[in-house]
Amino acid sequence: MNEYELLDSGHGRKLERFGKITLDRPCAQAVWNPSQPDRWKQADAFFTRKQGLEWRGRDQLPNSWIAQVNGVRMKLSTTDFGHLGVFPETREMWDWIRQTLTTATRQRSEPLHFLNLFAYSGGATLAAAQGGAHCCHVDASKGMVQWARENAELNGLKEHPIRWIVDDVNKFLTREIKRGRRYDAILLDPPSFGRGKGGELYKIEHALLETLQLVKKVLSQQPCFLYLTSHTPGFTPIVLKNLIQQLLDQGQLDSGEMLLTGAGSAFPVPSGTWARWQA
Ligand SMILES: C[S@@+](CC[C@H](N)C(=O)[O-])C[C@H]1O[C@@H](n2cnc3c(N)ncnc32)[C@H](O)[C@@H]1O
Repeated sequence: MNEYELLDSGHGRKLERFGKITLDRPCAQAVWNPSQPDRWKQADAFFTRKQGLEWRGRDQLPNSWIAQVNGVRMKLSTTDFGHLGVFPETREMWDWIRQTLTTATRQRSEPLHFLNLFAYSGGATLAAAQGGAHCCHVDASKGMVQWARENAELNGLKEHPIRWIVDDVNKFLTREIKRGRRYDAILLDPPSFGRGKGGELYKIEHALLETLQLVKKVLSQQPCFLYLTSHTPGFTPIVLKNLIQQLLDQGQLDSGEMLLTGAGSAFPVPSGTWARWQA
């Protein structure tokens, strides 16, 4: 079931429905005209970055609410940065991860081990858990890991084998290599700019190569997939593909744009890139 919908986009904005709440938020790539100008009146709240960060109509919204996004129930809440606790452009990837892990688990007749790095509120972790994988969820933000745990509970996955780790990704990976822990399927969504648990600066252009080298060392002997996504300008599908190609040989390598998609006449909105390797 899916309660997310991109209703329209244009004039640098997007109109989206998250369950019973409709929001109008900035979207720099939507340089075209809106297809349905009348629809925008439906918005319950409006976010702008024009003169500092500002929500209008936020006081009319509940503090938090729940929407099912491609089979995963997510707690949503408006943050001061205009985020909600979900990036809906990743939802088709969640379906792919769930399906791929379900099939692989059946073929191997044992659970696969899935590692989610920069894992945020856990949509992909929970889709992997639904696919039967044992999961490890890593994010430097204690608050985000807590949010992801609440999402696990909402999906009846509180007792599922998921390790919840608050740590800097590169430090965590270095420790996992020493501990001899290995993973069959790995997803990483590095931010353009981030901070580790101890305030370590993560700048994608300097840190990603090291992250990928470490990721290679925690891949199991029988890997299923490696999925790399990015929201950083300039990190096109080919850039991500080149990075993985240098890391892993053989296997199948695909890449593309992540899209926000909607119903009817809504244009798909490019919202990031992905590349994935499969054994
Ligand atoms: C762009 S979000 C990831 C979005 C998420 N993968 C999704 O699709 O829902 C980036 C996340 O990386 C985390 N982060 C940033 N720098 C980090 C670091 N050095 N180590 C671990 N996590 C980090 C942030 O706390 C944030 O939750």
